[in-house]
Amino acid sequence: MASTPIAILGTGVYSPERILSNEELSRSVDTSDEWILTRTGIRERRIAAESETTADMAAAAAQDAIANAGLSADQIDLVILATLTPDLPMPATACLVQQKLGIPERAACFDLNAACTGFLYALDTAWAMLESGRYRHALVVGAEKLSTMLDWNDRATCVLFGDAAGAVVLGPSPNSHSGILRSRLGAIPLPVDLLWVPGGGSSPATPEEPRVIRMKGKEVFKVAVRAMEDIAREILEQHQVTADQIACVIPHQANLRIIEAISHYLKLPMDRFFVNVDRYGNTSAASIPLALHEAQQEGRIRRGDLVLLVAFGAGLTYGGALVRW
Ligand code: ACO
Repeated sequence: MASTPIAILGTGVYSPERILSNEELSRSVDTSDEWILTRTGIRERRIAAESETTADMAAAAAQDAIANAGLSADQIDLVILATLTPDLPMPATACLVQQKLGIPERAACFDLNAACTGFLYALDTAWAMLESGRYRHALVVGAEKLSTMLDWNDRATCVLFGDAAGAVVLGPSPNSHSGILRSRLGAIPLPVDLLWVPGGGSSPATPEEPRVIRMKGKEVFKVAVRAMEDIAREILEQHQVTADQIACVIPHQANLRIIEAISHYLKLPMDRFFVNVDRYGNTSAASIPLALHEAQQEGRIRRGDLVLLVAFGAGLTYGGALVRW
């Protein structure tokens, strides 16, 4: 262990201007505000402009996070960007963000894809790289333009997702108390067609295997609850704290009912869980940093608090992290 803990020094977000409400969606696909709200808790989501890319959103959130940390771009020497919707196959979207923000040449920049667990995979990776002592300040971003990867005729998926970006800056903790305490990642080897994009990579997109999100919602629901409950329990046990000692849980924002089920099984009241899925839908890798930023802005997280982050995503990947704020 490094002598100085690695802490989250700043957070930032960006969400596109355009709001797409359930009511508006129900005019183009056979659904209703009532169905979406009762099954998912989602009221509306943000949709990026056609010209607005994942890198644009990521750079805006990152700029906010760097300023919030009281740093400047030239102090960043590591950029890890979690996304399943990169601007291009190459270069990495992290390199595009580097150029937009003037992050120096000595910074290592790369993308990472763990679907909706992407941000926690990036956080864990950055933490390890900073603890090694070889990097000092990391920009960790989750950004998605999922609107480009949806079948807008498939009511079972298109109502669930949205576009956004969130970022944090990691670096040496300004005090001996705050910092990342624990992180654990995993992936459950279940059939990939539970949640996937069947084509569009080295396996080309075809009419049968298009480049859009397909999901078996019911099965994913059950695995999601179990995975996030298990990782939360494991982290609490390993750190020898009880659920009651957690001031705020930031779960991946996929569905309010998933969050309510975790609250039930952990016997931790819903008022300890931060929820903003109603306003953004599922923004995949952006979901946790977006929620973390808003929770802090709303005073739900205070200095010294224990904060638990849990996520799951396609793969089926999962992860959890415990942070002393
Ligand atoms: N509007 C109206 N009806 C709909 C809609 C819709 N948008 N979508 C599905 N239905 C219909 C179905 O066709 C079905 O009709 P039928 O009974 O006539 O066949 C009925 O509603 C029930 O469908 P279910 O899929 O059984 O509904 P369920 O209660 O399971 O809710 C949901 C579906 C919301 C998708 C839920 O299963 C879920 O949230 N699953 C987890 C999804 C998730 O969290 N994914 C995370 C992705 S993470 C990542 O890595 C990208």
